[in-house]
Amino acid sequence: MSELNPTQVSINSDTGAVSPETGRYIKHLSELEGIYFDGEAWARTLREESDPVVYEVVEFKKQGSDLFFGTTTMQPGKVGDEYYMTRGHFHEDRTKSEVYCTLSGRGLLLLENRQGQCETVEMREGTCAFIPPDWAHRSINCGSEPLVFSWFCSVEAGHDYGQILKQGMRKLCLDRDGEVEMVDNPNFN
Ligand code: F6R
Ligand code: ZN
Repeated sequence: MSELNPTQVSINSDTGAVSPETGRYIKHLSELEGIYFDGEAWARTLREESDPVVYEVVEFKKQGSDLFFGTTTMQPGKVGDEYYMTRGHFHEDRTKSEVYCTLSGRGLLLLENRQGQCETVEMREGTCAFIPPDWAHRSINCGSEPLVFSWFCSVEAGHDYGQILKQGMRKLCLDRDGEVEMVDNPNFN
């Protein structure tokens, strides 16, 4: 096993900046086709808001380590009545769990397992969520400010997006006259 040195990494709770960082990506709305319930609203939002940024992921990975971590910064916004959300995934390695710690903003972490059990965990400053092995997870910004959270995961976890992309998740998170509401997803199959 290689010798690893301790490392200090700074995380900005408001911007999600990670310093030093080793990788990042941005997801624009155009790259999230098929994940929102209302496809017409997706196309309209894309056009009217000029393909907005929905979220950005920044990571710190130490070569040779079994763990890596980083931040996800989600912008506030909606597609129709549905709040901005991440793609959602299972981990490729079904034995790997993960931890999300919310640094700022307000949101919900939507989880479901392969037996159809659904859970939500509130995301607000100071809350951490344990994501058990083999539970799909999707974060949702249902506030009016950016939602920033840090995550800590095995480097071997990997992402399996296929099933969620094909089936959706069992619950939708909607804005109903200013109130956040979870409803059954009529398109889930
Ligand atoms: C890693 C993890 C997060 C997400 C990120 C974006 O296992 O859960 O880093 O990858 O919040 O969400 P997705 O990948 O679902 O688009
Ligand atoms: Zn994950």
